Order: sequence, then C-alpha cells, then structure tokens
Amino acid sequence: MTVRSYRHRRGRMGATTSEALLRLGDRIVAVDGSRLDVAALFGRTAPLVVEVGSGMGEATALMAAADPTRDVLAVDVHLQGLGRLLRRVEEQGLTNVRVAEGDAVVLLAQMLAPGEVDEVRVFFPDPWPKARHAKRRLVQQPFLDLVASRLHVGGTLHVATDWAPYADQVRDLVRRHPAYDVVHEGPRPPHRPITRFEQQGIDAGRASWDVVSRRVGTA
Ligand SMILES: C[S@@+](CC[C@H](N)C(=O)[O-])C[C@H]1O[C@@H](n2cnc3c(N)ncnc32)[C@H](O)[C@@H]1O
Repeated sequence: MTVRSYRHRRGRMGATTSEALLRLGDRIVAVDGSRLDVAALFGRTAPLVVEVGSGMGEATALMAAADPTRDVLAVDVHLQGLGRLLRRVEEQGLTNVRVAEGDAVVLLAQMLAPGEVDEVRVFFPDPWPKARHAKRRLVQQPFLDLVASRLHVGGTLHVATDWAPYADQVRDLVRRHPAYDVVHEGPRPPHRPITRFEQQGIDAGRASWDVVSRRVGTA
C-alpha cells in the first residue's frame, strides 16, 4: 500500500524528552521492516494492542494503565510525541508500553505476524478532512485488509475520527468487509479517554465518532 497518511513535522524537542528517549531506548522499536519479537520486547507474552498514530500519547498511557494485562505498542512517525509518551510511562511506572518510530503500515505488514494482534486502535488518524484528500486517508480498504490479517479472530479494530464524512467512509467500508462485524458506532465509549487532538476538535465545536469492529471468520 502506498498511501502516505502523515505529514512530516519539524518541532524542537525539549531536553527532557530527548533525555527520556536516550534513557528509555530499550523501549523504542525502529520501524525497519524486520520481524519483531514481541515477547522479547515486552519481556512477557500477553495480548498485543497496536495504537496507530499515538500523537503525544496521553490517551495511550491512560488506556495502558487501565488495562495492565495487555501490552501496548504505540506507533507514530513523530519521535517527539513518542518521547513524551515514554516520559509519561516512566513517571507512572507502566511496564506494558513500548513505542515504534515509523510508518504503521510497515510495522503491521512486515514486522508483525498474521493473527498476532488483539486490538488495533486508530484515534484521529490523519489530517486529511477534505474530500479531495480522501485518497490520502489511512483507513481505506487496503488498510482494513492489512489490519484484518494481523488481528486474531475475535480481535478488535477501534477507529475514532471527528470528521463526519471520514466516519461514514470507515463505517461503510467496515460494514461491507467480510472480516469485520461492527459492534459499536456512535459516541466515544467510556473506556476511550478524550485524546489531545479530539479535545482541540471539541473546543472548536466538532463532535467525534467511534467505530469498533470485531474480527470474524477464519484467520
Ligand atoms: C491527528 S494526530 C492524532 C494523534 C492522537 N491519536 C490524538 O488523537 O491526539 C495523527 C497522528 O497519526 C500519525 N500517523 C498518521 N499516519 C501514520 C502512519 N501511517 N504511521 C504512523 N503514524 C501515523 C501522525 O504522525 C499523527 O501523530
């Protein structure tokens, strides 16, 4: 799949964040296309959650803290946000979070095995609200096919967006997809905290939609 859903950003990284990245380097995965040993990365075997586009990671840390029996691998192209997340993880003493720097599509397609993932989260994935940008959106048929191949049967795909046409697109694609059953569509479910990006949308008067689907069929 050749969609590039993200923009490269320049940002100054604070000393505390860059120090955290150095100190916590063993919790960082480079998205280089090589197969990942998930059990070695987390030091245990547990159901794996992949959060695509974790941003600054506030929601990631909250959800990981609330669900210590599962491991969370947060992937983003922006190292600064991953560093902020690692600082949070360290401050809160969380042991079930690792971060991956790079393209989530490469991580899922090349570094994780079929059926290896329990949940894929995609919260406010990309900055492409306009119809003419629809082709650049991450959540399209090829992405849904890829996620379906990585989820085990009974696993979950959770997408949230604050752009109504994008929500419609996701819902229609998932409903038509033979690998998924939609189990929730509508307002934010209680277990998902408001994300930083979402809060900006709320402040600007936008609503958000969640589409939660279960992987069905044979893996
Ligand atoms: C709009 S922000 C939302 C961040 C966070 N989920 C939130 O709600 O606050 C989208 C994030 O997804 C990341 N992203 C988009 N496409 C990606 C991809 N293919 N691989 C990794 N990260 C991606 C962007 O870099 C950005 O940090």
